[in-house]
Amino acid sequence: MKQEKSDVQDVGPETEFGVRARALFRDMTLSAQKITRATDYDAFLDDPYGAYSKLRATNPAYWSPGRNAWLVTSYEDITDIERSSAISFSERCQSRFALLSQRRRALIPTVCQYLPRHLGHLDADDHSQLRPLIDVALSPSRVRRFEPMIRRIVAAQIDALSSRSELDLVEDLFVPLPLSIMIDVLGLDAADAPQLDAWSRRILGPFDFEAAPDVVLCEKEAATAGMASKFREALKTQKADGVLWALGNAAAEANIPEDDAICIAIQILTGAYESLRHAVALGLHAALGNPAWTAANTQGDGALSDAAIDELLRFDSVVQRVTRTASQTIECQSAVIARNERIFLVTGAGNRDPACFNAPDTLSTNRPPQPHLAFGIGRHYCPGARLARMVMRIVLSRLLAADPPFVIDPNDAIFLRSEANRGVQAWPVRGRVARQGGL
Ligand code: HEM
Repeated sequence: MKQEKSDVQDVGPETEFGVRARALFRDMTLSAQKITRATDYDAFLDDPYGAYSKLRATNPAYWSPGRNAWLVTSYEDITDIERSSAISFSERCQSRFALLSQRRRALIPTVCQYLPRHLGHLDADDHSQLRPLIDVALSPSRVRRFEPMIRRIVAAQIDALSSRSELDLVEDLFVPLPLSIMIDVLGLDAADAPQLDAWSRRILGPFDFEAAPDVVLCEKEAATAGMASKFREALKTQKADGVLWALGNAAAEANIPEDDAICIAIQILTGAYESLRHAVALGLHAALGNPAWTAANTQGDGALSDAAIDELLRFDSVVQRVTRTASQTIECQSAVIARNERIFLVTGAGNRDPACFNAPDTLSTNRPPQPHLAFGIGRHYCPGARLARMVMRIVLSRLLAADPPFVIDPNDAIFLRSEANRGVQAWPVRGRVARQGGL
């Protein structure tokens, strides 16, 4: 029988992703019993897949009163809903701004201009006007031409670090690497890296505009306006072939305002900055935790195939869920979702659905082709997927080679504390010098 919102009650932490545990976790007066629950929630964040599996088996589309949203965990329901024309991408962004006071809005005029124009916040008509810009700019042939440059940057950054005795794989490698690569991809000046790094961090900072302190909003505004003006200047001097040039050119040809091209360039830099580092870290963590799979896939020389990268992405993905709003009633396999109700499509759960993936909780060496959901599905499918696979393949192949540059223990990875995105926030390792007993 299909669920409707009015049928369901909050059924507790097991099927509710530990929502009560999270509330308790925030409670500053923790009793002994509450601490146990908080620890449960921590365990969930470290490995959410067991909880997904229980929820999918009992209630694949579940109305969560705690989150005021449907949690959809079955592959079939996720793909049905994502392909339906009854979902809105813009509603969430619009309601965020609708609630914002005039005074706060006045603090972030550039953010208010650009954020609703992000591809991820556009519904069908606006999206189909702007999406071709990024598809042209990141075309297969252009992305292929980046491979030698990416190999050079990866080799140089890893070599420079391997002589250190101790380092943090995340801060020292996985953060700067995508930034250096994307600066080259966009055709920007490497000397601007520190500034672009600082702006990216601020742009990606808190999105709760009503709750964030004024100073945080002002920093976000300055970063967005600063990056936009840097890209506007760079567009004037761009050489043909870079991604920024291609965006500007495609916008001019289609009579689309330059600001839309700049907004997309900001999404490319900030999107890659955040997702690439976590994807590389999660892939490395999964590979090191499964030595037999890694040995079979690297054949000793560390060279991973694109199919192996896709299996790593399916197994543990950065984006665990995407949010939509029903613009009309949606009837999927497991539920009837009413207009205006919020939906979390838990793609991380869809990627472990046994109805689609045989033995989903293990890394497979020969899985039959079945699209995973790590890059999304449908019209908003990640336009950076090709580039992301290439970067992951090159970095992971080097780190898993027979003579690895670092001594890496998967148990030292410290995971991000977030339900919506998985990732690694710190990962202490030792360099080659320490491995050889030099220090
Ligand atoms: C492994 C790394 C990456 C992962 C896991 C990832 C994941 C995703 C996912 C799941 C979506 C769809 C979001 C939704 O449906 O709401 C998406 C969209 C997007 N991604 Fe990525 N991404 C990655 C790398 C990149 C890179 C390298 C770029 C830029 C070169 C990029 C740029 C974008 C943009 C601009 C969108 C919005 C597309 C649209 O709404 O039409 N991503 N990404």
